[in-house]
Amino acid sequence: MMSISLQVNGETHAIDVDPATPLLFVLRNYLGLTGAKLGCGLEQCGACAVLVDGQSTLSCSAAVSDFQGKVIATVEGLAQGDQLSRVQQAFVSAGAAQCGYCIPGFVVAVTGMLESDPNPDAEAIQEALSSHLCRCGSHGRIKAAIDSLVGPRGAS
Ligand code: FES
Repeated sequence: MMSISLQVNGETHAIDVDPATPLLFVLRNYLGLTGAKLGCGLEQCGACAVLVDGQSTLSCSAAVSDFQGKVIATVEGLAQGDQLSRVQQAFVSAGAAQCGYCIPGFVVAVTGMLESDPNPDAEAIQEALSSHLCRCGSHGRIKAAIDSLVGPRGAS
């Protein structure tokens, strides 16, 4: 065990944990932030994505000790009080969630993409979403949500 300091959603937490524990397990089981999901656990599906220093990052495999000193935001940290972020609102308005399991990861990915590039082209959108799977096949509505944010960009 080791004391790990994590900055998550604007708060600093000191957590006694095995430093090799994946970040996702610490977020969910120690901090109660269950928005990021465990899907594959192998960095293959995107369900566990969180923002790390503004970049969408998979959290299911990387050790929590790698994230000390970084600024972490989970999907819970994107809203301002009751006010959804514009990406969250776009996903709601488009009815993008079917079962919804993958949606926090998509919302985080789109948020990270727009933070680094407010005007992404179709290729940039495809790249940002390339590690995200939706087993329900809601990609059309996810694309509609993204289109509502950046305008139609062709296939993505
Ligand atoms: Fe992390 Fe699937 S749970 S990529």
